[in-house]
Amino acid sequence: MMQKEMPRKYWHNLPEASLIAPLAARAMQRSSMMIAQPATTPLRRIPATATGTLAATAMTPTGPQAARGVIGSLLALKDATMRCRECPIGEHATQSVMGHGPLKARLMFVGEQPGDQEDLRGQPFTGPAGQLLDRALEKLQLPRDGIYVTNAVKHFKFELRGKRRIHKTPTQREAAACLHWLDEEIRLVQPAALVALGATAARALLGYAVPVTAERGKWFRRADGLQVLVTLHPSALLRMPPEEKEEAFDDFVRDLGQARELLRAGTSL
Ligand code: URA
Repeated sequence: MMQKEMPRKYWHNLPEASLIAPLAARAMQRSSMMIAQPATTPLRRIPATATGTLAATAMTPTGPQAARGVIGSLLALKDATMRCRECPIGEHATQSVMGHGPLKARLMFVGEQPGDQEDLRGQPFTGPAGQLLDRALEKLQLPRDGIYVTNAVKHFKFELRGKRRIHKTPTQREAAACLHWLDEEIRLVQPAALVALGATAARALLGYAVPVTAERGKWFRRADGLQVLVTLHPSALLRMPPEEKEEAFDDFVRDLGQARELLRAGTSL
């Protein structure tokens, strides 16, 4: 092997030349020891199952038992998504990030995918985009803890640049592979209406591409009858030039205000 890399006559020029003879002499013995050792397991990687199937989600119709059923089902969902390898993203993320909020929230906000901080903390919208969303909700006096906040894709997709993990937009195929987890979340939480934050969420919730900049602030109806308010993703606002940010924020708040109106009206549209 070593002779393939460098002919023997040059070995004596190497600074580590004195180590070669004893290492070569013990090579066979060291290989046998390594083969005999049991395999190591990764420290935090979650083993995959075939499809990460969800455990039974039986629910009673009302009362504390129903709530317990929903909690159990959401926990099962977290567990199943942790093991999901239906697309390649899960292999590299720290963990899956499921939604957060009250079990029977009337509003469900859906983003794209967890970011770097969400991936580490295990909670959606806790990084810079989440802080912007919080500011908008505060302006509307809509308490975030009354809203169920989740993402279309449950794992963080990124590329490494040095030590930094840079967000990468999930492909349509990856978002489609994740869709059944989101559908299951909607089924469990039973919100009165949905808010799509950005194009990935809008496509996941409606099943077709929505030109978000043109259609923002409008309600769309899903095949199951649920209404979806479409608006920009808060990260899009963060990327805007400073002189446009204030107006963009006001527009974002205006869009989300429609969801608040829906809650105030007490009925779905
Ligand atoms: N962007 C998202 O779409 N979701 C998060 O949870 C964080 C950032």
